Amino acid sequence: MRPVLTFCMIFAAQVALAQEAADTVAPEAATGGEATPLSAEAVAAVTAKAAGQPVVAENWMVAAANPLAVEAGAEILRAGGSAADAMVAVQVVLGLVEPQSSGLGGGAFLVWYDAESGELTTLDGRETAPLAATPRLFQDENGEPRQFFDAVVGGRSVGTPGTPALLEEAHRRWGRTPWPDLFDKGIALAEDGFAVSPRLAGLIEGDADRLSRFPATAAYFLPGGTALAEGDLLKNPEYAATLRTLAEEGAAGFYGGPIAADIVRTVRNAEGNPGVLSGVDLALYQVKERAPVCAEYRAYDVCGMGPPSSGALNVGQILGMLNNHDLAALGAENPEAWRLIGDASRLAFADRGRYMADSDFVPMPTAGLVDPGYLASRAELLGTDAALAEVAPGNPEFDHASNWADDVSIELPSTSHISIVDGQGNVLSMTTTIENGFGSRLMTNGFLLNNELTDFSFKTHSDGVPIANRLEPGKRPRSSMSPTIVMQDGKPVLAIGSPGGSRIIGYVAKSIIAWADWGMDVQQALALPHLVNRFGTYDVEEGTSAADLEEALTGLGFEVNQRDLTSGLHAIEIGDTLRGGADPRREGIALGE
Ligand code: GLY
Repeated sequence: MRPVLTFCMIFAAQVALAQEAADTVAPEAATGGEATPLSAEAVAAVTAKAAGQPVVAENWMVAAANPLAVEAGAEILRAGGSAADAMVAVQVVLGLVEPQSSGLGGGAFLVWYDAESGELTTLDGRETAPLAATPRLFQDENGEPRQFFDAVVGGRSVGTPGTPALLEEAHRRWGRTPWPDLFDKGIALAEDGFAVSPRLAGLIEGDADRLSRFPATAAYFLPGGTALAEGDLLKNPEYAATLRTLAEEGAAGFYGGPIAADIVRTVRNAEGNPGVLSGVDLALYQVKERAPVCAEYRAYDVCGMGPPSSGALNVGQILGMLNNHDLAALGAENPEAWRLIGDASRLAFADRGRYMADSDFVPMPTAGLVDPGYLASRAELLGTDAALAEVAPGNPEFDHASNWADDVSIELPSTSHISIVDGQGNVLSMTTTIENGFGSRLMTNGFLLNNELTDFSFKTHSDGVPIANRLEPGKRPRSSMSPTIVMQDGKPVLAIGSPGGSRIIGYVAKSIIAWADWGMDVQQALALPHLVNRFGTYDVEEGTSAADLEEALTGLGFEVNQRDLTSGLHAIEIGDTLRGGADPRREGIALGE
């Protein structure tokens, strides 16, 4: 067998990728005006990433998917703002410069560690199904599931956005900077313009057919019928106007008034695929505070977002099943380590498909799914020397009768992750999304609307047995987003998360293992090539040393598939210093002082 995953190989490949990213996010010549150049600190952060180094700081740090957004957050933190303040500024800019991934028209989950109280909590800003949505929304006249993109593109898939309400709620609880100030950078960039990034340009080109279906979306991304290109100066005065409304009126200016009316009109009039969202849905939207879900792993408590996300449950299950296995001794280059990780993931995904959904609608064995005794019993299944021939859901302890059928919902990778530590020691981990790249492809007031409802199961029943994640009015679709804060002795030691659809779970679990077991620093852990198993096929990252494991994993009985695995991990390690990492597969950076 060839040697696998040597560190030289990992970093040769990743440095090349990161160098490319460094070249592309640095200030670029723009057509039709001057794009805002990056600060010297941001350029240094890009260089550190290209060299495979974490960014080190003493007081505060922010890591996110685009340097302009990170700079917006850094400005707030430098001026003494809180992590919640900085998050608002980051999200507002991400919605402009990375509009395909997250924005005002989407939803998000936020995990917060409060330095003063020592408490962890989570905010659920997930999109909700409109009250007029029926369980058969994604079925045709014969009751058969629609084709995925027939459902996605248009108004049918649009859930009530949660992000604006989440920004306001986080600021109300934990903000220190005046709310209107948090929009300054976003407004300036939207009015003055920014250089279209290589990633955005490539995604527009690849999605041109769908983006051209709706006039407002086509006019913005394909002006005059031509796709925006890398380096083009892009202005978004409508987005600037929306931000001014939010700055002046708060989230009420989004959930009521002309913006709300435009959202409803856009959804209901979407040609060929109208939706059912109403002004009442927008007016009723609420952010929900929920207890974090935590699982034990080694010396840590790995905490994150519970239902309606499957993120913390599945990350916690994977790690919990591996607790009795010495991954440190096996090492990152050992196929046996990946057999254990891959099959633990498959077992976790079996439980996900059976039990996990919006627990406000469906009774869920939330505590039972991460109970150490239950995970130890599931881990006994890993005591083989080959890939599991069959994987089925387990029977976690539950004080409620349940009879659910298994579901496999489709989630394609988009989304964005933000990690922040502020000068007071508060820690924020937030994953934010409009679901598919460019969401529903519907645009109004300068932002895209989500297609989050396609995270529901398109089927409501299987052989007459109901599926937990079926669509119901007012319900929140199951997510895989895994914003995570790792705790040790009651203190935060790592904030981490990623985009990537249901592969998010594998990206986050792998990075925590690399950091906790394999002694990697935060940048090394994110850059380590991915191997992700969800439903049986082992996805290995094409063009990296992970692909060298194909032969060994095939020999263990796995079906192996080489492919791009475009995570967007952003993490901050919290110790004597702060050490930030940004995924070399995307355009983001970590910045701190
Ligand atoms: N739409 C991505 C997720 O919520 O997992």
